[in-house]
Amino acid sequence: MSKAPVIAIDGPSGSGKGTICKLLAQAMGYHLLDSGALYRLVALAAEHHGVSMENERALSDIAAHLDVQFLTSVDGDKVVLEGEDVSLAIRTEAVGMNASRVASLTLVRKSLEERQRAFAELPGLVADGRDMGTVIFPQASIKVFLTASAEERADRRYKQLKSKGLDASLADILVDIQQRDERDQNRSVAPLKPAADAVLIDCTHMSIAEVEQEVMTLIRNRGL
Ligand code: DC
Repeated sequence: MSKAPVIAIDGPSGSGKGTICKLLAQAMGYHLLDSGALYRLVALAAEHHGVSMENERALSDIAAHLDVQFLTSVDGDKVVLEGEDVSLAIRTEAVGMNASRVASLTLVRKSLEERQRAFAELPGLVADGRDMGTVIFPQASIKVFLTASAEERADRRYKQLKSKGLDASLADILVDIQQRDERDQNRSVAPLKPAADAVLIDCTHMSIAEVEQEVMTLIRNRGL
């Protein structure tokens, strides 16, 4: 197993994990694993290949052979699936819903385990997901469970969509978040829950800067 230190950040959709993980990876000069993107990619690849979201074997096959590149450049980060830039396509609500469905399948999760662990390279990794601290990196140096109320997460998402000029309904977003939480928390395999040794941060009333500061303090206290 790699000796690279891992900072595992888990939590529900919309808790701000993605933003915090990017900031932490930049501040530390660490690699970044957006594990949710892998489930989104499986869902999108399945759609492209006409594979049903119920066909566990075929989906796990897709997961095992995902032809994906995560590219970083000055113009921003890019996710390339089978040669096609899917950076925006994997972020739609529809793909998010299907990602949540494929993520509940044991064989799909198994197929993605080693690919995720391979991201743990020196000088270190910030891992963003639902089971980073519980299943993928149980030996992580730091484990954080970042959460916020469903209402606050819906509100943040609503404002984000509005700021992009997209049409959105706060009530629909809240229902969507509650459904996804329900599915992520109650699935039998790797359900969304804090690791026993995770530090819980409820950021309902915190700014991004405050959350970053709190996690940086944990990191410094661990001597990383
Ligand atoms: O974080 P996200 O919204 O991109 O994740 C997409 C879906 O994948 C979400 O429903 C939860 C699931 N997921 C998971 O089950 N395990 C992970 N480590 C990451 C995401």
